[in-house]
Amino acid sequence: MTIIAPSILSADFGRLAEEIADAERSGGDWIHIDVMDGMFVPNITFGPPVIKAVRGATRLPFDVHLMIERPERYLADFAAAGADRITVHAEACVHLHRVVGQIKELGLPAGVALNPATPLGFVEHLLDDVDLILCMTVNPGFGGQSFIPSVLDKIRTLRHMLNERGRAEVHIQVDGGINAETAPLVREAGADVLVAGNAVFGRSDRAQAIAELR
Ligand code: DX5
Ligand code: ZN
Repeated sequence: MTIIAPSILSADFGRLAEEIADAERSGGDWIHIDVMDGMFVPNITFGPPVIKAVRGATRLPFDVHLMIERPERYLADFAAAGADRITVHAEACVHLHRVVGQIKELGLPAGVALNPATPLGFVEHLLDDVDLILCMTVNPGFGGQSFIPSVLDKIRTLRHMLNERGRAEVHIQVDGGINAETAPLVREAGADVLVAGNAVFGRSDRAQAIAELR
């Protein structure tokens, strides 16, 4: 089953709660929340207070993607704000294994994200510990960028590694440039969680947009 996670980065921030409720009504499965610190990525979005303010807008899980340096400093704050799962970037953690353990100690499923240029070797030793691996299909920082096709091979290799290891249940998430054209490619390669910003919130009929991604 494919999970569709609309990314609120492309939503109207002035009407964030309504936009999230619309994504739920339109058939989204998770709400993808991009947190950026202006250091790990060249853009700044929002933090725990905003997440807390919109938590009541939906019953869908909040899938929090932390594009911040040393995310271990803020894990408890994001959990308290209403995160249902937390993904950190391998490139932003000096002690990645420890950070994954800290997310799990908070009682949340842990994800690890890899930039397009980051090899799978960064997560190979963590396959037994994580719930999700996010293969970025753009360089993180902005919505509306073009899909990087070379990531497809990485997804195929990762799906194979997970199957070989008896960890087929680990989600492979993709994020960046996902639309009706690229969705079949990433699914065929082995991804099962599709994040989409522009392809959902950039459209007036979000239900139609999500149906097209499925
Ligand atoms: C990019 C973010 C994405 C972004 C995707 O750094 O992590 O979640 O919202 O946007 P689209 O789907 O428009 O490429
Ligand atoms: Zn994201």
